[in-house]
Amino acid sequence: MATKVYIEDLSKHVGENVTLQGWLYNLRSSGKIKFLLMRDGTGICQGVAVKSVIGDELFIRAGELTQESSFKMSGTIRAEQRAPGGFEMDVTNVEIISIAKEYPITPKEHGVEFLADRRHLWLRSSRQHAVMRVRHEIIRSIREFFDDRGFTLLDAPIFTPAACEGTSTLFETEYFDLGKAYLTQSGQLYGEAGAMALGKVYVFGPTFRAEKSKTRRHLTEFWMVEPEVAFNDLADNMDLAEEFLEHIVTNVLKNRMQELKTLERNIQKLEVVKRPFPRITYDQAVEILHKNNIPFEWGNDLGATDETVISEQFDRPVMVHRYPSEVKAFYMKRDPENPKVALAVDVLASEGYGEIIGGSQREDDYDLLLARLKEHNLPQEAFDWYLDLRRYGSVPHAGFGLGIERTVAWICGLEHVRETIPFPRMIYRLTP
Ligand code: 4AD
Ligand code: MG
Repeated sequence: MATKVYIEDLSKHVGENVTLQGWLYNLRSSGKIKFLLMRDGTGICQGVAVKSVIGDELFIRAGELTQESSFKMSGTIRAEQRAPGGFEMDVTNVEIISIAKEYPITPKEHGVEFLADRRHLWLRSSRQHAVMRVRHEIIRSIREFFDDRGFTLLDAPIFTPAACEGTSTLFETEYFDLGKAYLTQSGQLYGEAGAMALGKVYVFGPTFRAEKSKTRRHLTEFWMVEPEVAFNDLADNMDLAEEFLEHIVTNVLKNRMQELKTLERNIQKLEVVKRPFPRITYDQAVEILHKNNIPFEWGNDLGATDETVISEQFDRPVMVHRYPSEVKAFYMKRDPENPKVALAVDVLASEGYGEIIGGSQREDDYDLLLARLKEHNLPQEAFDWYLDLRRYGSVPHAGFGLGIERTVAWICGLEHVRETIPFPRMIYRLTP
């Protein structure tokens, strides 16, 4: 058998005799020729099997391949502009591995619930494949960004003794003789300990929220990356966030253009995602809402529609800072110039995708932090270790969290976050 290669590497094998291994995407016959469209996970390649070349017996066998049957095909690679992927194989041999039963997902339109129930198979479809490859590129770029800037990856625990982002969305579980444990909502508090030890860290892992909301932006299990930097203030935090987002979008455009085309993404809307991003205060955001005839009361948190209206005023992500402290988490530092607002920042993605980043400068004063814990009715014992960070060499510090799935939805131009993660978890979905 010839050298085994992957479809995405075919440009290096033009004129060579190679073997491809994969699954049948489609089969067309036209008299004495069969067109075998194979997908191998890296791309799609059309094999042209001519009866007079491969012989009658093999020609008949090739015709028995059903959609998603696994097989190998060998032959010579030829550049072909019109072919999907740009290359074709002149097939000399076909080896069937496993004939697939009647495949439930066909080119006809299926309802989204039908597809979601078959997520394990749906992932093979070209759009889902493209989304997963873009997701991977986003995650790769995130790691590259922090690794190249001297950050240390710090893995935070998933079982935690207390809430980080408010108590209303905690998943709880029994934890041996120690009572209740909660699935983490955010690794931030541990990231702060890491920043005091290592200067600049990022926490990257799954996070859990018992969100009752059935919106297109909410999952109960999602991935978050959270940088935390000692000595950074809110302005430094915003600088980091915009450089970070620009890096991610630039890399996706550079390395995953084919996938963006498959997704029919409007590329121009991504190409303008360049620094500097507009920075507006919460007060200015409220003005924008009022100008757009949205009855919004100062002091409320921005809802999904509010975020959409605000982000539609700009062609790139917008940073909204200094939210009322009342609607934000206990650990956020208040603005010394106006204690009614917190040194918080949310980044709203362009095109109405809403909040993708939430962050802040942290309260670094022991007494103020203690007062906040009490105001929020949080159990002090569970946070005693966290207060230690303010007892022993406290410094100003800041960080943020980027939700991976919302970022994937935005960059891919998807309607709903359920298609941005391999196996979504939502209040009404725990399978497959
Ligand atoms: O704004 P959030 O709640 O911020 C934090 O958790 C901070 N501790 C982060 C930090 O400062 N280190 O969540 C951060 C991001 C949101 O902007 C959003 O992108 C995403 O996490 N997110 C969700 N994504 C999907 N489904 C949900 N239910 C989400 N909740 C938050
Ligand atoms: Mg938030």
